[in-house]
Amino acid sequence: MKKVRLGIIGFGAQGSTYAEFINNERVEQMVVGAICDIDPTKREQVQHLYPEVPFFESYQALIDSGEVDAIVTTVPHYLHTEIGTYALMHDVHALLEKPGDIYGEKVQEISKLAQTKPHLTFGIFFNQRTNPLYQKVKELIDTGEIGNIRRTNWIITTWWRPQAYYDQSAWRATWAQEGGGVLVNQAPHQIDLLQWLCGMPEKVYSNIQYGYQRHLNVDDDVTTVLDYGNGATGVFITCTHDVIGTDRLEITGDKGKILVEDSSKLTITRLNESETEMNHNMSWNQAQEIFKGKTFNGVYTQENLEFNSIWGEQHINVLNNFAANIIDGTPLIAPGSDGVNGVNLVNGIYLSSWLGSEVTLPIDPQQFKVELEKQIITENNKK
Ligand SMILES: NC(=O)c1ccc[n+]([C@@H]2O[C@H](COP(=O)([O-])OP(=O)(O)OC[C@H]3O[C@@H](n4cnc5c(N)ncnc54)[C@H](O)[C@@H]3O)[C@@H](O)[C@H]2O)c1
Repeated sequence: MKKVRLGIIGFGAQGSTYAEFINNERVEQMVVGAICDIDPTKREQVQHLYPEVPFFESYQALIDSGEVDAIVTTVPHYLHTEIGTYALMHDVHALLEKPGDIYGEKVQEISKLAQTKPHLTFGIFFNQRTNPLYQKVKELIDTGEIGNIRRTNWIITTWWRPQAYYDQSAWRATWAQEGGGVLVNQAPHQIDLLQWLCGMPEKVYSNIQYGYQRHLNVDDDVTTVLDYGNGATGVFITCTHDVIGTDRLEITGDKGKILVEDSSKLTITRLNESETEMNHNMSWNQAQEIFKGKTFNGVYTQENLEFNSIWGEQHINVLNNFAANIIDGTPLIAPGSDGVNGVNLVNGIYLSSWLGSEVTLPIDPQQFKVELEKQIITENNKK
């Protein structure tokens, strides 16, 4: 295969961006094979922009057409696994947009299907995994440089979205069509990174505000406590109403600490001896010297690194990596089956808020369905 012919399913904000990247030859091993949207007005747009590219009004027709080797699902969230499943069943490679689905169970099902199709590539669009900063953080943790993780804190409130954003498409910020708010639209990137870097918590306890600062039924403010089951804990905070938001990730281990600010500045603190050893070996007099600030510098070393990210680069990286996996088996940065953890975590965070209690992961999918259905019914009753 010379170049992967990508079928873009959903020609909205994201789908049209990917078409432009590919058309501008920013994705080396990919061409746009076909485009699909259920909105008939998109046909004219596509024909104007890409007269050579076939347009379909149903994803089945696009996948069955023989015009594509692979598809990407740039459609509302409930459709990702449905369309991905149809593609894999018809021997077409599938790249799911995030979140993999609203239900963890469905991501599990499509992952099992993908396992039975080893000749097909099944990926998920976690573009932030391609950021060299987070790859460095992963390497630091995986090689044990900061030791056993004791605490994770991520405050990610830089997802400011005005009401006009929510009002631009009817599916947004609804339980019935989007499946939630900031937790399923904006924060999946950080939720994936958190679990990719630090592993899955065993329990979560959350406080969520629904329609707190926007006219919505879904979440626009979330605070969650994570319990990793080994004494380690974490806090995850996100919202869409903080104009001057904060993006600060701290991962504390017994041998050091990682601080990421604005997803661009990385501060690595390495303890000369682990906190466990310090605690064991240090006399009270030595400790007092540290409190007075006299020998503090001898306790650790610090490294500061800066990473610059150009807009669009991460998405292009995912498309390049997906195409390379199809063509020559280059390992995937984000295999589709990895999508399940983030969705399971989000399912747990919602369920905890709806039940008003801590929940153990993975949650009972049936219970989640019942509780989500209640939100949809309440939403429908308000119409
Ligand atoms: N990876 C990222 O950084 C990133 C960024 C933004 C959005 N996204 C994801 O991309 C997806 C799309 O978001 P968007 O902002 O482009 O939404 P959008 O509303 O702008 O576009 C969605 C498009 O899908 C079409 N559509 C709906 N149902 C369809 C169907 N059954 N078949 C074909 N087309 C259908 C709609 O008509 C619309 O044109 C979402 O899952 C979102 O979370 C990912």
